[in-house]
Amino acid sequence: MPVVRGKDIEVLFSASAIARRNLELAKEIAGRDYDDLLVISVLKGSFVFAADLIRALHDTGLSPEVEFIFISSYGAGTTSGEVRVLRDIDNEVAGRDVLLIDDILESGKTLKYTRDLMLSRGAKSVSIAVLLDKHTRRQTELSADFVGFECPDSFVVGYGMDVGHAFRELPFVGVVKGDA
Ligand code: IMP
Ligand code: MG
Repeated sequence: MPVVRGKDIEVLFSASAIARRNLELAKEIAGRDYDDLLVISVLKGSFVFAADLIRALHDTGLSPEVEFIFISSYGAGTTSGEVRVLRDIDNEVAGRDVLLIDDILESGKTLKYTRDLMLSRGAKSVSIAVLLDKHTRRQTELSADFVGFECPDSFVVGYGMDVGHAFRELPFVGVVKGDA
């Protein structure tokens, strides 16, 4: 078991398993025949996944525009979840196919808010790609169009995801054993 910052980390999804899955996801996305694709990475957690997925998309021949939206969701997993845009995109979305990329779909509040925002701006379509789906935690009707892996109901870190600003740099997704 890897030890990082003095903590044992149980590997759930290895770097090689994620890389293989990203290639499959890119093929699924390319199969949708999007017209004018605008990829929006939902920060912070999705930055590593988005970086890998857009390069896998390139290998399929897709050349999307790429943007970043910084969303904060306080207590998103709870009923009090409040979602806010901390930094917006500055692209035109009207009439375009938007693909939102996020790390985890949990309650669905973050992505529902972001999807509805893009639809209100006139997006032709809004699709969702997430690395991990914690479907047992859902509190909205939202589902993702493209899912890397079903995720057990544990708090995960790595591959862009943090606990207390730590562990984003891990090349794999894991669970911190003991007290994080
Ligand atoms: P939702 O609005 O409940 O779907 O919240 C999903 C967001 O919560 C994700 O984009 C992550 O930023 C964060 N999140 C949920 N579960 C985890 C986890 O296990 N590790 C790290 N971040 C998480
Ligand atoms: Mg997030």
